[in-house]
Amino acid sequence: MADIEIYLKEKLNPLYRVWYGAWVYWWPLWRSYISGPKIMKKWTELSLVKEGQYFLDFGCGTGDFTIPAARIVGRNGKVFALDCNPKQLEIVTKKARKAGVNNIETIPSEQQDNLADESIDIVWMCDVIHEIRAKREVLEEVYRVLKNRGTLIIYDSLKDKVVNYTDGLFTLEKQDGKLMKFLK
Ligand SMILES: C[S@@+](CC[C@H](N)C(=O)[O-])C[C@H]1O[C@@H](n2cnc3c(N)ncnc32)[C@H](O)[C@@H]1O
Repeated sequence: MADIEIYLKEKLNPLYRVWYGAWVYWWPLWRSYISGPKIMKKWTELSLVKEGQYFLDFGCGTGDFTIPAARIVGRNGKVFALDCNPKQLEIVTKKARKAGVNNIETIPSEQQDNLADESIDIVWMCDVIHEIRAKREVLEEVYRVLKNRGTLIIYDSLKDKVVNYTDGLFTLEKQDGKLMKFLK
């Protein structure tokens, strides 16, 4: 990500830089106030996240789902916030401190091996899968850390195409628009 930022700063034309800047500032606002609450409503409708669960927010970004998940799982549960961008993890740590939640552990992508086999109840991947190049490799890693009969939820505009990547690892249990709930 740092490399991309340097590339954008140094190489791209000014117009593109303006567009990029707008996106960087606009996205967190849109996620926090518009799309995030709508997605969270689906959590409630489908009772996806429960007290006491071990929850992995894969590609957590700035933590718009990490903090609510930490509140729901409570002190008997735990949230692992994983991202390849260390800056995002710093933001999550600050937000968690501000929100007064202390059941979140941030994990940089390169340390995801530290997550034990079959230790997670629910993996949440929101608007991440389309960004990942080695999709199958990442999903195999998700398979490793999920408990048997654990849940993988993918929310992404790739929608139906996701089934090709999950084939043989997870079974699609439910689909609601962009949200797909899989079982290990
Ligand atoms: C569009 S943001 C979504 C953030 C958050 N899930 C949300 O919905 O608000 C995608 C996030 O995925 C992270 N990401 C992309 N590829 C990743 C990978 N291979 N491993 C971990 N994180 C990744 C990015 O750094 C970014 O924070």
